[in-house]
Amino acid sequence: MNKTYDTTYLKKTTDFLLNLKATSFFMLDLESGNLVLDLGCGNGSDVLELARLMPDVQVIGLDKDPELLEVARKNLASTTINNASFIEGDVYTLPFNENSINAIRVERVFQHLEQPEKAMEEIKRVLSIEGNLVIVETDWSTLNLYSGDIEIENKVVAFLTGKFIKNGYAAKKIMNYFIDFKYKKIQLQVITITLNDFAAASNLIRLNEVLSAMIDQNYLSLDEKEAWLKKLNYIADAKCFVVTLNMVLISGKK
Ligand SMILES: C[S@@+](CC[C@H](N)C(=O)[O-])C[C@H]1O[C@@H](n2cnc3c(N)ncnc32)[C@H](O)[C@@H]1O
Repeated sequence: MNKTYDTTYLKKTTDFLLNLKATSFFMLDLESGNLVLDLGCGNGSDVLELARLMPDVQVIGLDKDPELLEVARKNLASTTINNASFIEGDVYTLPFNENSINAIRVERVFQHLEQPEKAMEEIKRVLSIEGNLVIVETDWSTLNLYSGDIEIENKVVAFLTGKFIKNGYAAKKIMNYFIDFKYKKIQLQVITITLNDFAAASNLIRLNEVLSAMIDQNYLSLDEKEAWLKKLNYIADAKCFVVTLNMVLISGKK
C-alpha cells in the first residue's frame, strides 16, 4: 500500500494544530442528533475529540489505511466514548446513502488526492441538504523557513507543491471546489502556524524525506542539502529558528 503517514507523524502534528482543529469543529455548526463524518481521519484523534466535545452527536471516522484505523480503534477502546466509530473506506466511493450525513470534515486529505473533483462529487452525494462541509488544507506554497537561502527555499516549495505532494496546490484551489460544486454560504479562514522548534517543523514538512527525494530527482545536490541543513541547525542552536505555514479552512452548505 502506498502509505503517506505513519502514526507518529500524525500524533506529533496534531499537538500544535489544536487551535485549527477547534476552529474546524466550530465551523461544522453541529446540532444534537447529527451524524458527522471525518474523511481521511488518520489515527482518529479528531474523531475522538469531537465525540468527546459533543456527546449528542454521532461521529464516524473513515480512512483507507487499516494500520491507522487500528490505532484509532485502540485509542477509542481506551476511552468511555460511545458516540464514535471507525470504518475503512475510500473518499471516492463512500459507503453511505444519498443525503445521509449531516456534516463532513476533511483535514489535510485533498492534498493527497489525484481526483479531487471525484471526491467532491461523492461528498456532495452523501451530504444532507443544508449539511456543512468543512475542509482544512495546508497551503504548502506559503512555507517560509527564513533561512536566508532564498534559492533553496524556493526550490523546496516548488518541489513540495509541484512534485512531492500529489495535489500540492489543493489549499489554493479549494475555493474553486466549493464554487464549482455550488456550495452556499461559503466561509474561508486562514490560520498561520508558527513553529520555533526545528524538530517539530522538520516533522511537519517531512524535511528529510523531501530533501532526499529532491536529491534523487536531481533538484538538489548533496552538498547543497548538507550546507543548508548545517545552516538551519546553526539558526536553531542560536534559538532564532522560525517556520511559518498557512492553513486554510473553508466551509459551505450543500
Ligand atoms: C495528513 S493525514 C490527515 C489525517 C487527519 N485528517 C488529521 O488531520 O490528523 C491524511 C489522511 O488521509 C488518508 N487518505 C488519503 N487518501 C485517501 C482516500 N482516497 N480515501 C480515504 N482516506 C485517504 C490517509 O490514509 C491519511 O490518514
